[in-house]
Amino acid sequence: MKSWRPKTVVWLGLALSLANLPAVRVAADEPGKPSASATAEVFKAVGVTAAGQIGDGAVLYVPAGLRPEALPPSFSLVKTPALGGPVPAGWRVTPRFSASATRFRAHVPVDDKVDLYGGGEVAGPLRRNGTQIKLWNTDNYLYKKEGGCRLYQSHPWIMGVRADGTAFGVIFDSTWKAELDCRAGLTFTCEGPAFPVLILERISPQALLSALADWTGHMDLPPRWALGYQQCRYSYEPDTRVRQVAAEFRKRQLPCDVLWVDIDYMHGYRIFTFDPVKFAQPKKLNDDLHSQGFHSVWMIDPGVKVDPAYSVYQEGSARQAWMTTAAGQEYQGKVWPGPCVFPDFTIPAVRSWWSGLYRDYLAQGIDGVWNDMNEPSVFDGPDGTMPETNLHRGGGDLVAGPHRQYHNVYGLLMVRATREGVLAARPEKRPFVLTRSSFLGGQRYAATWTGDNMASDEHMRLSIPMSLTLGLSGQPFSGPDLGGYGNNATPELWARWISVGVFLPFCRGHSEKGANDKEPWMFGPAVEKTARMALERRYRLLPYLYTCFQTAAQTGLPVMRPVFFADATDASLRREEQAFLIGDDLLVQPAWAPDAARPKGLWHPLTLVAGDGADPHQAQLFIRGGAVLPVGRAVQHTGERSDDPLTLLVCFDKQGCAEGRLYEDAGDGFGYRAGDYRLAHYKATRRADGQVDVQVSATGHRPVPAERVVRVLVVEADGRQRAAGTPQGL
Ligand code: NOJ
Repeated sequence: MKSWRPKTVVWLGLALSLANLPAVRVAADEPGKPSASATAEVFKAVGVTAAGQIGDGAVLYVPAGLRPEALPPSFSLVKTPALGGPVPAGWRVTPRFSASATRFRAHVPVDDKVDLYGGGEVAGPLRRNGTQIKLWNTDNYLYKKEGGCRLYQSHPWIMGVRADGTAFGVIFDSTWKAELDCRAGLTFTCEGPAFPVLILERISPQALLSALADWTGHMDLPPRWALGYQQCRYSYEPDTRVRQVAAEFRKRQLPCDVLWVDIDYMHGYRIFTFDPVKFAQPKKLNDDLHSQGFHSVWMIDPGVKVDPAYSVYQEGSARQAWMTTAAGQEYQGKVWPGPCVFPDFTIPAVRSWWSGLYRDYLAQGIDGVWNDMNEPSVFDGPDGTMPETNLHRGGGDLVAGPHRQYHNVYGLLMVRATREGVLAARPEKRPFVLTRSSFLGGQRYAATWTGDNMASDEHMRLSIPMSLTLGLSGQPFSGPDLGGYGNNATPELWARWISVGVFLPFCRGHSEKGANDKEPWMFGPAVEKTARMALERRYRLLPYLYTCFQTAAQTGLPVMRPVFFADATDASLRREEQAFLIGDDLLVQPAWAPDAARPKGLWHPLTLVAGDGADPHQAQLFIRGGAVLPVGRAVQHTGERSDDPLTLLVCFDKQGCAEGRLYEDAGDGFGYRAGDYRLAHYKATRRADGQVDVQVSATGHRPVPAERVVRVLVVEADGRQRAAGTPQGL
């Protein structure tokens, strides 16, 4: 992506002052900058109908043309903003609206000392200053289309972090096709009508992300098995191949929780069907996987094969469920099965019909659902999707409108219906849904991965800022196709990638049809050993990781965090995008990034598996001085008890104190909502005799497992771990 910087400070000043003028001529691609070359589009200033406080540190700006008491339904916000008072005195971030004949714009002047982050799924640097993206969900194979400046998801959200560590965030509340430009302040320009802008102001980036979750929704706590390692390829087929892969993991003692079943299980790519030969007994397959401690996730796409003899096509047709052209004809476009129709998920009855399809499907023992191709991707459609003029009929609070309006939330509406269907079919279990397409707020319905990346060093490195940025945009549960989806991975690349990938929230290896096999044993014994070590590190961390997921669900704080979260006033950390934090207490530094910026203070090297310090590919880990990190033992899957023994890794601060937390529950189901959980808060202090006092206080009704053994290990400055007792009752 081309980056652009104001050539002089004068330029920036000029841009800001121009935004005040009633009518400005600006180039479509350089907001605020007068241009001789592209003056066709004239933006005229639009006034503000209302602006005011909608909560603590939250202000809403409503442009002329909208009424604050009758805003269009928001796909991002979970609560309707109600103006409660004037904009607070000294409020620092203010949008200015303008409109051309065809587009509507909000421009937010930003001090050039502010570092910008967010924007959702982006292929580029963590720090977003000087970048621009397009918000138009796109099936972007290998991120090649337009240099990856538009991907599978849209998040009209940017946050700014000031030098003093205070932070603000801006939600441009529109779903229409848009551009988000961070080159001279923030400029969001959409090909649609006026939209409101919501600005959040907080004392820290952490507090800001909590506020974002309060406004756009919290991720629900996922089932614990979804935190394990997951293995996918396009496609394991027939069912015997799935069994082989499962057997191989167990035989080789490579920890793994989930096997993924890609489209070739279907009968002629008809969704909700099973190939009568290749996958004749899906229930039996799933039962057998379960008996070995695996869960399975199977794929469902939105495109429904046009086939009058196919029940899903028949049912949907009878309900007039399909998208239509602007002229009201059934729209057809090609995807895997050939000509397809597409559910219009803006229609409430279509969503509930879609939800209902999951009942019989999940009865085959399927544990999780993978919704793919839901931008939607249409092979023979304009620009790889359906025409922007196609018609959504809406219903409930959604008005009828063109696809240009609803395209960016097509995937969101789909996974909303999927999640509801999965929950209705199995109300006692936590749904697990993975989606490729999404929108700001999508964490309410599904986890996500970053689409079709490539087996390359560049994409391996890029996968870190990508997941960090999703976390800074409200989505805590994401990860890339580890090892790279397209192209062959070399043993070296795969070893490097898995060694860091095990610390990402969503941890799944995947590979495209035609690319080399990317299971951990396919690259020879040395790489397999590296992979086992990396996977064992993740499994040892599960107690801590699950606690971080619970924190994310409750507070909106991401699981994977940029290093600058350790000290938002330390300017030297703001651009670090290879090293990252898990929670507050664990720093991960990829082997390929020896010079990564590290936070000040005490960070002691941490070993989790014997020999991990000597393996050249493993990431270096550091535990924060002042932290108690709960870890388990390496197990083969999350169904095994990993807290047996439970190890408390204690890293004292300078005062000889350390604190940490451990969240435990049944790992699935909703008992935790009625108190069946235990959130332990540990406080460790160093005694004069070198021993350690650990005190615990806990909330929740869940008792400590009776047979639990706890070991306390003190992590010294050189990384040595010194045994310091086996206290009872923790
Ligand atoms: C595209 C997805 O991005 C990829 O992960 C999947 O394997 C293929 N579709 C086939 O279903």
